[in-house]
Amino acid sequence: MKAGNSVLTSYGTTIFEVMSRLAAEHGAVNLGQGFPEGLEPPALLAAAARAVAEGPHQYPSMMGIPALRRAVADHARRFYGLEIDPMREVMVTSGATEALADCLFGLIEPGDEVVLIEPLYDSYLPIVRRAGGVPKLVRLEPPNWELPRDALAAAFGPRTKLLVMNTPMNPTGKVFGVDELDFIADLLVRHDAYAVCDEVYEHLIYDGKRHVPLIARPRMRERALRIGSAGKTFSLTSWKIGYVTAAPELLLPVAKAHQYITFTTPTSLQQAVAEGLGSGDGYYRGLADGLAARRDRLAAGLRGIGFDVLPCAGSYFLIADIRSVGFNGDDAEFCRRLTVEAGVAAVPVSAFYKDEGVRHFARFCFAKKDEAIDEAIRRMAKHFKPGRA
Ligand SMILES: Cc1ncc(COP(=O)(O)O)c(C=O)c1O
Repeated sequence: MKAGNSVLTSYGTTIFEVMSRLAAEHGAVNLGQGFPEGLEPPALLAAAARAVAEGPHQYPSMMGIPALRRAVADHARRFYGLEIDPMREVMVTSGATEALADCLFGLIEPGDEVVLIEPLYDSYLPIVRRAGGVPKLVRLEPPNWELPRDALAAAFGPRTKLLVMNTPMNPTGKVFGVDELDFIADLLVRHDAYAVCDEVYEHLIYDGKRHVPLIARPRMRERALRIGSAGKTFSLTSWKIGYVTAAPELLLPVAKAHQYITFTTPTSLQQAVAEGLGSGDGYYRGLADGLAARRDRLAAGLRGIGFDVLPCAGSYFLIADIRSVGFNGDDAEFCRRLTVEAGVAAVPVSAFYKDEGVRHFARFCFAKKDEAIDEAIRRMAKHFKPGRA
C-alpha cells in the first residue's frame, strides 16, 4: 500500500483530542480542551434557530453573506478604528482553523520561510510544512514569555514570506504590547514579509487591557491578515465561523484556498453571528469580566493547593508550574496522571513546542462553570493535600 502524505501522517492525534478522550474515559473534569461552558448568548441561539427555520438553505456567496462581511467591517471600525471594505477585504471561513489554512496555503510558495513563535497552536506547523514552507521557530519561554527580539530578528531573512503570530496568545495568556507589535512591523517591512495574525481571543482580554491588532499599526494595513472567530467571541466553538480581514491583493490568493477547501459556510450561523457582532458594549464587557472572574477563581484554587500560577492577561488559559506541587517528572506524565488519578484533565505546555525544553508546565482552561472549577479544585486538593481536603 502506498503511504499517505508524509508531513501529515508524521503528526499524531492532537493533544486536545487525546486529553478530552482520556478525560471522558476517566470521568475527569475537563480543564484540558479550550472550550467555554454556559456562556452561549441566548440571542444568538434564537437568531440561528430563526435563520434555520426561514432559510435560505443553499450555497451562499463563497466570501460570506454580505450581512456578516459588513458586520465584521463595522466591528473593526468600532473596536480598532479600521476602515475595511466589507466586499473586498473580508472573507468568512469555517472557523479560524480554516482561515489559518487558507492564509498559509494561499500565500506560501514551496521553499518560502515562515517565522513562527512558540509555544504555538497545533495547526500552524503541519499546515506550513504541508504548504511547502520552511519553518523558522522562535521560542518564548516561561515564566515571562518575553519576545526574544534578537532571535526574532535573526529568524527573518531574504526568503521570509510571512510570520504567524497569536495575540492574545494560547497557551501563555500573553498580550503583545504596542512596542512588540511595532518591532515586528519593522521586521516585516524590512524583509517585505506578511503577517498572519491569529486574533481569536481578541475579546478575551482582562484587567483593563485592550487588544491591538497588528493590522491597525502603521504600515501594516497592506501586510497583515487578521483572523477572528465567533467560536471564541460568542462562546460557540462548534459553530466554526471565522473571518479573515486583509487588503484586497492579499485576500485574493487566500480566497482561492477557501474556494477549493470549504467554498462556503452555513448561512444560518453566519446570519446569527452577523447579529452578534453588533452586540452592545455590555455584551463584550460582560464576556471579559465574567471570564476574568473565572480566571481568578481557578487561580486562587490552584494557588491554595500550592501551584505557582503564571499571570494571564488574555485567552482562556492559566499555566501552572508542576514542580511547585512536588512533581519532578515531565508535564505530559503529570497531565496523564492528573487525569487518571486525580480526575482533572489539563494539557502539557510542551505540546505547544516542536522540540524539548519546556517540561514543567500544565495548561488549565478556566472558561468553565464555577461548579466545574470548584470540583476540579476539590479533586486536586484531595490528590495533592489528602490530609487537608
Ligand atoms: C490560537 C487559536 N487559534 C485558532 C483556534 C481555532 O479557532 P476556530 O475554532 O474558530 O477554528 C483556536 C482554538 O482553540 C486557538 O486557540
